[in-house]
Amino acid sequence: MSKLFSKEEINEAAKAINEGKLVSFPTETVYGLGADATNPEAVKKVYAAKGRPSDNPLIVHVADQAGVEKFANIDEQSKALMDKFWPGPLTIILPIKPNALAPVVTGGLNTAAFRNPDNAATIKLIQEAGVPLVGPSANTSGKPSPTKPEHVMHDLDGKIAGVLDDGETKIGVESTVLDMSGKIPSILRPGAITVDDLKEILPEVQTDHHQVGKDEVPKAPGMKYKHYAPNAQVYIVEDSEWPEVGQWIAKHANQIVGVMTTDATFRNNKLDSYDNIRYMSLGDGPESASHRLFDELRTFDQNLLINVIFSQKFDRIGIGEAYMNRLQKSAGNTYFSDIN
Ligand code: TXA
Ligand code: MG
Repeated sequence: MSKLFSKEEINEAAKAINEGKLVSFPTETVYGLGADATNPEAVKKVYAAKGRPSDNPLIVHVADQAGVEKFANIDEQSKALMDKFWPGPLTIILPIKPNALAPVVTGGLNTAAFRNPDNAATIKLIQEAGVPLVGPSANTSGKPSPTKPEHVMHDLDGKIAGVLDDGETKIGVESTVLDMSGKIPSILRPGAITVDDLKEILPEVQTDHHQVGKDEVPKAPGMKYKHYAPNAQVYIVEDSEWPEVGQWIAKHANQIVGVMTTDATFRNNKLDSYDNIRYMSLGDGPESASHRLFDELRTFDQNLLINVIFSQKFDRIGIGEAYMNRLQKSAGNTYFSDIN
């Protein structure tokens, strides 16, 4: 049994980290699976607990900018980014000093990812432990990332010392990953810090995170695997398709169907007229949708009768980019038009 640490018990959680144990920590994005980044044996346990391939490098979570300096030199632009966006949902990849971090952290690369999460309890945990924490999302590999302590418990109870409980996370999708180790800064994963936000500091930013097109066959083998995937098949729905989705739902009256839309889309398409719909609201737009996506996918997972989920597409603008990136992975890039 894993323990739920209250914010008054941070020293107990820090002690577990110092003993080489795993503690899940809250951030503003999702819950992380924490281990002492300077203890390779502890870091190995992270991969085992998640069931994650160990060639995927981890983010090093620090309490402040000074926490990075031991491992990497901070160039001027990266310093400006940290000044503006830290603490916050921006992960920065920097070249590291020789042998500064174990290969089990970096995946053997000569760069590492650094992040200063915007969560007071976790900052205190890092300070009390006196070491930075590695932290992938605290879910079983392939499942939606955890935005609540109970999600972590569901996936990892018994495999970790405990979860530092700070309730629900604010943003709901993982941090923006920005590679500052190359010639031109490059966004590897979209998040709440958007391209436009970064352009306030950087003259040039590449957005070359790969978006698999609708009919494109993924090139890298790993890309064919689903991430963030519930047990049901998720279908992405264009705004104009909801009337057709309604007809599909009516035709499949013997099935319970999950639906995720904004309140307005639900209302405008009179989706409440179908008895076999289980509805989870995405709120009023991409920001609330990002906040709720993973939690709602997990809620649908608890209903074994649901094999099909329809979820609303948003424009890839602002945080809509991060939402669509996660939704596409949950759906294995499957659209309503693919259903028959
Ligand atoms: O919001 C977040 O970032 C959450 C919370 C817990 O902080 N963490 C998280 O970690 O999402 P993880 O391990 O799921 O994602 C880290 C991403 C992966 O896509 C990994 O491949 C990439 O960052 N990454 C880490 N180090 C890298 C490096 N040196 N070069 C390129 N990519 C790297
Ligand atoms: Mg993850």
